[in-house]
Amino acid sequence: MTRLTDQAHELITIILQQGETAIDATAGNGHDTLFLCQTVGPAGRVFALDIQQAALDQTASALERAGFSNCELLCCDHSQLGEIISADLLQQIGAIMFNLGYLPGGDHTKITQQHSTLTALKASLNLLRSGGILTILAYPGHPGGAEETAAVSDLLARLDPAAYAKEVIFALSESASAPRLFVVRKQAD
Ligand SMILES: C[S@@+](CC[C@H](N)C(=O)[O-])C[C@H]1O[C@@H](n2cnc3c(N)ncnc32)[C@H](O)[C@@H]1O
Repeated sequence: MTRLTDQAHELITIILQQGETAIDATAGNGHDTLFLCQTVGPAGRVFALDIQQAALDQTASALERAGFSNCELLCCDHSQLGEIISADLLQQIGAIMFNLGYLPGGDHTKITQQHSTLTALKASLNLLRSGGILTILAYPGHPGGAEETAAVSDLLARLDPAAYAKEVIFALSESASAPRLFVVRKQAD
């Protein structure tokens, strides 16, 4: 069974083009940021956000080791996405990734929160280009994770199906506590 993180990468690879701009809304240890930098290539650009400087330091090291300089690291809450990303990038972003929860091996109290996650997701929907993709890996088994996952699911359920195509992918089981990957594609004009 392919890991959900790898499945997110596979789906994004189909859509995100060289030279485009992408966002990692939860940089963590930098695996997703690195993948996005590789996918958009040197002519593209990636914004990677995290509330923890320790996470961004890890991400910066991973990028440096791989020789990427096309990433802007932003130490902030992703609920600020709408203000931080300049208005000229509205509806210009090819892919946006969220991997919710806490930094593996880090401080487990620094965890994504339902309210800021929803604010960030709404901003992300405005930033996506036509045909662009948003992935959200959610962990209902974490403290607060069940409520956060349900809130994400509710938000996506209310999206106009004419404007957004949605699916949910489970890794092993579809039990209430199983991690799941929400995938949203903005319908092409
Ligand atoms: C599961 S990890 C992300 C893993 C990462 N994508 C990777 O490839 O290694 C979740 C990250 O979200 C960050 N985070 C938690 N709340 C956040 C918020 N409100 N805004 C931005 N990042 C946040 C945590 O600090 C943590 O590093």
